[in-house]
Amino acid sequence: MTEDSIKQITLKVQRYNPEQDSTPHFQEFLVPVSRGTTVLEGLLYIKENLDSTLTFRTSCRMAICGSCGMLINNYPHLACHTQIEEFHSDTLTIKPLPNLPILKDLVTDLIPFFNTHKSIKPYTIRHETEEMENPTAEFTQTPQELETFLQFTYCVKCGICISACPTSASDKLFLGPQALAQCYRYCADNRDEGWQERFLLVDTDHGVWHCHLAGACSEACPKGLDPALAIQLLKRRLTSQAIGLRKKQQSSPVASPITETKAKVPFPEFTAKES
Ligand code: SF4
Ligand code: FES
Repeated sequence: MTEDSIKQITLKVQRYNPEQDSTPHFQEFLVPVSRGTTVLEGLLYIKENLDSTLTFRTSCRMAICGSCGMLINNYPHLACHTQIEEFHSDTLTIKPLPNLPILKDLVTDLIPFFNTHKSIKPYTIRHETEEMENPTAEFTQTPQELETFLQFTYCVKCGICISACPTSASDKLFLGPQALAQCYRYCADNRDEGWQERFLLVDTDHGVWHCHLAGACSEACPKGLDPALAIQLLKRRLTSQAIGLRKKQQSSPVASPITETKAKVPFPEFTAKES
């Protein structure tokens, strides 16, 4: 058999339709797999050729939209970013992400997750609102200042860190690694002045202090973020503020308006000649 030849793999998929089933059950499908076939492609094969009722969420197919998080052989992955051959197994077990309510088959309800994300005010807050509402120039920020939070801007809101987190599994009110990491992302951004408001939201029993630093979120994040680090940095900020060691954060100024007008670049002349 050549490297690119097709072999048959069993996908054992958890099925659950709350309108018909009292409990979830598994269904097995034989799918053709060649080099590079992703788990998502295997599921699409089932949907298109074997059972059109199989339900899962997908959109970008390139690890950007965060839609296709699922448990593959008991570990959370993005299905579009995971090749079947990585598992070196003739059978893969596929289940919906844990710690989230199941809507149908592999689709979980992400609304509570997004509501928690929204609750930590994931946007730039300035005390002086005029510049936000009628901007005249951008807020200045050096590459070093950007570096303090840049990795956390890459979150695709897939929910995988929540599904890997043992605290999220035991405490339904826990804000969770995604929201806490986004809280740090905005607090560390020197264009933002909303950290006092956000600190009140996360300085709670179900906020940063309930993180036991298992590190499972950072281990599982498919985008390489380190939410566990963000939570520890939030704890450090809260502690240094509580004992009076925290320096006042300097928020970034507005850049000077650009006054000189750019010289117009002449439209290039056509060089192709009609024959
Ligand atoms: S931190 Fe990582 S795992 Fe968590 S939602 Fe964002 S991208 Fe997904
Ligand atoms: S389909 Fe968008 S992340 Fe997988």
